[in-house]
Amino acid sequence: MSHVRIEGLTKRFAGKPPAVAVDDLSLEIEPGEFIVLLGPSGCGKTTTLRCLAGLETPDEGRISLGDQMVLDVRGKVNLPPNKRRIGMVFQSYALWPHMTVRRNIGYPLRTRRVAREQARRRIDEAAELVDCAALLDRYPAQLSGGQQQRVALARGLAAQPDLVLFDEPLSNLDARLRDQVRAQLHELHARLGFTAVFVTHDQSEALALGDRLAIMKAGRIEQLDTPERVFEEPATEYVAGFIGMSNRLPLRRQGTGWILAGGPGTNEQTGEASSSGGASRPVADELPVPRSHSEIAVRLRPDDLRLCPAEEKPPAHGVALAAEVVDAQFGGRHMDVVVAIADSRLHAQAPLTGKPWARSLARGQRVTAWFAKDAALYYDADGARATAHAPAAAVGA
Ligand SMILES: Nc1ncnc2c1ncn2[C@@H]1O[C@H](COP(=O)(O)OP(=O)(O)OP(=O)(O)O)[C@@H](O)[C@H]1O
Ligand SMILES: [Mg+2]
Repeated sequence: MSHVRIEGLTKRFAGKPPAVAVDDLSLEIEPGEFIVLLGPSGCGKTTTLRCLAGLETPDEGRISLGDQMVLDVRGKVNLPPNKRRIGMVFQSYALWPHMTVRRNIGYPLRTRRVAREQARRRIDEAAELVDCAALLDRYPAQLSGGQQQRVALARGLAAQPDLVLFDEPLSNLDARLRDQVRAQLHELHARLGFTAVFVTHDQSEALALGDRLAIMKAGRIEQLDTPERVFEEPATEYVAGFIGMSNRLPLRRQGTGWILAGGPGTNEQTGEASSSGGASRPVADELPVPRSHSEIAVRLRPDDLRLCPAEEKPPAHGVALAAEVVDAQFGGRHMDVVVAIADSRLHAQAPLTGKPWARSLARGQRVTAWFAKDAALYYDADGARATAHAPAAAVGA
């Protein structure tokens, strides 16, 4: 197990304009830790992994694996991939076309000169692990995309390396297999305790697998924290949006209260839909936001945006908004509902258990959408948390 230390890693690509794929990134990984790099396309996840593996020549920075300095740009150290004890399972899971599955999985064992009997056992174990035991004598061209990906996963794990790099290794699998391989990988990591850096842009995969998550933006780490903290306390609006708080509602201060920045709103707590004159009626008298902020964005998860019939009153701690149903889809125990609130489109999850009303939701229907003040997070114009340090009750008193 290695302790991994990345310091000031920078990788630029020439071009017009030049791209800074990784921008002064530092990260320390504990032995046995499972780190997930999460971020949108193009934010530098793969490039970071390729630098760790020795497949790129970084412009700046140092990387050490255990007591081995594998990269030191100023000191002119950059060990080639085969000198780093790393297993790799990459997005492009190129298997050797002229080798059987057995020889593909065994490849890293041969380069490490593992004894024949032990190699055979490890290949069988690795193949079993990803459900490929029946495919050992086939060639890659005789496999489906998902099967090839599982073989690539087995190949990355077969040599039992100290550090394993994963680049979206589950993205080609169908939903059922994806859950299954994810669970196997989680269990395997607990059992073998290798250090892992796992790249994904799937938030549920990140939450499930990571000991810590690094949320990346434009070549930098925006937040580095446990899954619980990233999920409950996204430090910036960017992170909130990426970790499932897909609903965004812009509000503007008016007097002591808040109005929808986008357009007409409703009365707080009456759920009464605004008619023509409702443009400046506050949606909330007070929110847990300091007085210095005049504009904020409310971020909410779909399951924290509730719906009730337009004539019903939501609870007193709720912020009520007049909404119109845009679309409603059956989701088993809930309905997935898109609602329009002024200029914003928001997603709500309306439970069906004990509430058959939600099943009848249809396009054009007027409803009241509401959320509990403490279920939302509030961000300022710069995307930073705008939460009062004082208890909510003290604000606006
Ligand atoms: N070989 C290259 N030449 C030029 N630019 C590159 C090269 N490889 C990556 N880039 C650029 O560097 C940035 C980061 O790319 P990278 O592949 O690391 O992103 P990523 O986070 O893995 O994205 P994805 O989720 O789409 O795989 C992008 O802007 C990309 O266009
Ligand atoms: Mg990538």
